[in-house]
Amino acid sequence: MKVAVLGGTGAMGGAVARQLSRNNVVIIGSRDPARAEEAAKLIKGTTGADYSTATRGAEAAVFAIPYTAIGEAAGLANELKGKLVISMFNPLKLEGGLLNYPLEKGSAAEELAALLPESRVATAFNNVPSHMFAKEEPVPMDILVAADSKETFDEAAALVRSVPNLRPLHVGPLSQAQMVERMTALLLNLAKLNKTGALATKFVSRKD
Ligand SMILES: NC(=O)c1ccc[n+]([C@@H]2O[C@H](COP(=O)([O-])OP(=O)(O)OC[C@H]3O[C@@H](n4cnc5c(N)ncnc54)[C@H](OP(=O)(O)O)[C@@H]3O)[C@@H](O)[C@H]2O)c1
Repeated sequence: MKVAVLGGTGAMGGAVARQLSRNNVVIIGSRDPARAEEAAKLIKGTTGADYSTATRGAEAAVFAIPYTAIGEAAGLANELKGKLVISMFNPLKLEGGLLNYPLEKGSAAEELAALLPESRVATAFNNVPSHMFAKEEPVPMDILVAADSKETFDEAAALVRSVPNLRPLHVGPLSQAQMVERMTALLLNLAKLNKTGALATKFVSRKD
């Protein structure tokens, strides 16, 4: 699949671009095309472009930009019509030394879907610490995918499976995305309080 990683110049965007580039054609998107080209030189097989060019040339897009910049998506609605869009946004707020979830209702993923009404939005990769994606094949992880239709879930799940050792798990519709985003705060707090080092999601079952 041809995938634009918007904010692929950042920590998580670069890490996701590296993993997706194993089995997809990745275009790194940046507000500054020169910065995108520099980032692309570091990841074999990728190219760099501004956000608009990157999304126009892609079949799917991953938003790897800060939640505070989510409004930038509105300007890409045309380019992203009918396409799969992955939300990794994690709204977080530090309160009393612990991270909390700041949204009173809804989720960043639903906000993104509202900004892109003709795109097919799903969550994925929200709970992966960037350095776990930075270089080698990731350790086995479960990737929580919320999506409003089976078609969108299946397409997002296929993208997740294109990275070795990742198992997509269906969370339900996008109205469940808040659970996925909240999980990031939980994982970061658990790591801090229990001094475990960074944590990601892997569920166990008697079937395993
Ligand atoms: N870091 C993690 O471990 C992690 C894990 C899971 C999910 N996430 C999510 O992934 C997203 C990116 O996180 P990150 O830690 O990779 O952030 P980051 O290192 O700060 O990178 C964010 C990128 O977003 C772009 N950007 C676009 N508009 C921006 C704006 N108004 N202000 C600042 N940057 C802007 C920048 O690229 P250009 O300037 O090149 O356009 C920048 O390189 C967030 O939504 C976060 O919740 C992060």
